Amino acid sequence: MRILGIETSCDETAIAIVSGHDDTLTVEESFVFSQVDIHEAFGGVVPEVAARHHLIKLGSMLAKHVPKDGKGIDAIAVTAGPGLAPALRIGVETAKTLAWMWNKPLVPVSHLEGHIYANWIGDAVPELPALCLIVSGGHTELIVMKNHGEFERIGETLDDAAGEAFDKVAQMLGLGYPGGPKIEKLAADGKNDAFDFPRGLMDREDFDFSFSGLKTSVMYKLRELESAPAADIAASFQEAVVDALITKTKMAANEIKPASILLAGGVAANKVLRGRLEMLGKELQIPVFVPPFAYSLDNAAMIAAAGCFRARDEKNVANPLTVVADPNLDFA
Ligand code: KG4
Ligand code: ZN
Repeated sequence: MRILGIETSCDETAIAIVSGHDDTLTVEESFVFSQVDIHEAFGGVVPEVAARHHLIKLGSMLAKHVPKDGKGIDAIAVTAGPGLAPALRIGVETAKTLAWMWNKPLVPVSHLEGHIYANWIGDAVPELPALCLIVSGGHTELIVMKNHGEFERIGETLDDAAGEAFDKVAQMLGLGYPGGPKIEKLAADGKNDAFDFPRGLMDREDFDFSFSGLKTSVMYKLRELESAPAADIAASFQEAVVDALITKTKMAANEIKPASILLAGGVAANKVLRGRLEMLGKELQIPVFVPPFAYSLDNAAMIAAAGCFRARDEKNVANPLTVVADPNLDFA
């Protein structure tokens, strides 16, 4: 099966063609246009601005890389949510039009399910049940993937997402948007034990997270110190986030005893987090999967990948004219 994937949930306009044979997926083509430079001036993503640029870019990307008559494409997968409503709508309405025109099945996909399926791209075939740590700009969740299409949420952030905390602390340090990669780069020159920032909810036995206290603590520290050593602040903050994520993942893994642990979402691009999760896997003797670096951040290959699995079940294939973008779409 060859699937065209379309992703416009936030500030990346992306299309991809993925072919699936049994459980193995091959990315034939993947194109991502990042709007980061456009939104940097605003200090964050402006939904209407994102939608306008998706509109301009998506049409030209499709015209350039996809046959006009849809020849060779068996189905279309599109991110239906969660995300920014005006941005999602551009991808969904475009996908509906193509599916209707080409008379091809349309598979609406959750953006978060897409992030999880980035782990199937390449040669990896993770064993199920899997414990999935999703860490993105809008979500921080622990999900048990019991089977393909069968997910259960066992923990989530009660306030900020991990990526959001990276972005906010980067803003406090004057590093710009998006903050994650900038904090990671700066942290490489700092001491990760210079400041003992709080790890939220560590005394609780559930699998929930909290990052707003950490963010506030960084803010007070910056106010308190006249000339704050930015690299030490970045490294100690990153350490607190990673520590909280790994601690709760370990607790969950000990209880669930999954066949594998998967990392997913934009923060999965963070090398310290990737390394620490791999160490946890060795300690617990559970195989750990991290998505290929190129497919950690938002892309359409992961959406097509999820679509490949979803399309196997007839009930996941929608009548194109009934699909609606849902900014709060839930999948677990
Ligand atoms: O999944 P994603 O691309 O978009 C959403 O679905 O939200 O995640 C974006 C988030 C941003 O908050 C960004 O700062 C964070 O991922 N991020 C990182 C790194 N690269 C991106 N956070 C930490 N370290 C990184 N290297
Ligand atoms: Zn994402």
